Amino acid sequence: MTLHNDKIIILDFGSQTTQLIARRIREQKVYSEIHPYTLPLAELKAMQPTGIVLSGGPASVYDEDAPISDPGLFELGVPVLGICYGAQLMMQQLGGRVEQAEKREFGKAELKISYTAGLFAGMETDPHDYQVWMSHGDRIEAVAPGFVATATSNHSPLAALRHEKKPFVAVQFHPEVAHTLIGTDVLRNFIFGLCNCEPTWTMHSFIEATVAEVREKVGDEQVICALSGGVDSSVVAAMVHRAIGNRLTCIYVNNGLMRTGESESILRFFREKTDLTVIDVDAEDYFLEQLDGIVDPEVKRKRIGYGFIKIFEEEANKLGKIKYLAQGTLYPDVIESVVFRGQAPIKSHHNVGGLPEQMQMELIEPLRELFKDEVRELGLELGLPEEAIYRQPFPGPGLGIRIMGEVSGERLHILRQADVIVLDEMKKAGWYRKVWQSFAVLLPIQTVGVMGDGRTYENVIAIRAVDSRDAMTADWSQLPYDLLGRISTRIINEVRGVNRVVYDISSKPPSTIEWE
Ligand code: XMP
Repeated sequence: MTLHNDKIIILDFGSQTTQLIARRIREQKVYSEIHPYTLPLAELKAMQPTGIVLSGGPASVYDEDAPISDPGLFELGVPVLGICYGAQLMMQQLGGRVEQAEKREFGKAELKISYTAGLFAGMETDPHDYQVWMSHGDRIEAVAPGFVATATSNHSPLAALRHEKKPFVAVQFHPEVAHTLIGTDVLRNFIFGLCNCEPTWTMHSFIEATVAEVREKVGDEQVICALSGGVDSSVVAAMVHRAIGNRLTCIYVNNGLMRTGESESILRFFREKTDLTVIDVDAEDYFLEQLDGIVDPEVKRKRIGYGFIKIFEEEANKLGKIKYLAQGTLYPDVIESVVFRGQAPIKSHHNVGGLPEQMQMELIEPLRELFKDEVRELGLELGLPEEAIYRQPFPGPGLGIRIMGEVSGERLHILRQADVIVLDEMKKAGWYRKVWQSFAVLLPIQTVGVMGDGRTYENVIAIRAVDSRDAMTADWSQLPYDLLGRISTRIINEVRGVNRVVYDISSKPPSTIEWE
């Protein structure tokens, strides 16, 4: 069985919204993947794409070092959609002309459509205006031979184009963003109308194909998987188990830095509802010893990471020779993002980083083509409990990086109690699933308070709640004051040793989501 019947390949020229193009296409049940614009033509051809999308990007096609994809892709006989920079590149490579626009066009614009087939099938012509989202400083001045305009906007007389004989189309606006109200229709018209894709990419078909693939790759060998309590590793375990049954062994290392009940419920699920083999290692004392007296965040992270690898390895070795390690790598970690103008490359946190080389294991990464929301969908399809699937992300080093300063049993106890209250109130108020993460942080300072008639000198808890799409950027969540009030009152009343609660109102960047 092949994994994907139809496949739309997106060549990335560095736009902030390239990932969105892939998501929007996959939402239509058509598989799509992103590659850098430098992808060699032979490789692109070997992928047998059903369609190709050239993404937007921050450069100008007339820049000396402009990113240029191989123009040979126009000879593959495959439909091509150019978006923004991709549209301009298509024009330039096929003989048109692009110039700096007198007026740049950013944000919402009104599109007038003159051709209601192809990309605009099902839409109406002038005088109907459609809201689209633009973001460009250059514009197409002269169309390439064979192309005609299909829509205009105030500042772009050539806002959309089509080739009269070949399946090449281009739009100056961004169909992938929500502000382009006809965006989904435009993408649908491309993938179904021009590329003739079938909407067969579903989680059900994905599971079937992946299970077969894992089964074939693993053969008679053994696989281990580190279960963390989070959704990604749970889904990986469930999926690999479906493929190879009890030749998968999961190892759960309790590092003593988990939230109250965080992993117990997952373990309970796997033990009670599946026949998965889970080895549960209680290493709480070991980790606390390792963290004794450590204040520096990086040293904490390293010691926790190292400790995890050591214990995992010890347990794995007891099982004999293991060939494969299953791991929950997601698509955003895999995409080789095109980086412009010194932006920091995307960094990924791998909890079991370093293990495969050290233990000479090969990786099995069944989620490496999926976005987080797809993993959740997959988890539901695999029958994982909802509470596990919609659990907020939790960092590998756990509460260790949410206790500023020294980590001790006593301070962990304070933070755990505060954390339970935050989550409890977030859930009761219906806010838990609305935010990306919400948690408590224990600060390394004490402040003066008054309780009853007496002076107190106790700890401060900071509350952090953020909105985010993928954790690369985030904004502090505008939680209602009364919710914040309830959280604060409960923490101060119920958690001994805390007399003050503050709310973190920093975005990322320049802050990060976690405090350490
Ligand atoms: P930052 O603090 O870098 O966090 O803005 C971004 C996202 O990653 C999570 N995080 C981690 N996850 N291992 C993980 O598995 C780690 O070492 C780690 N550090 C941060 C963090 O909770 C947020 O969702």
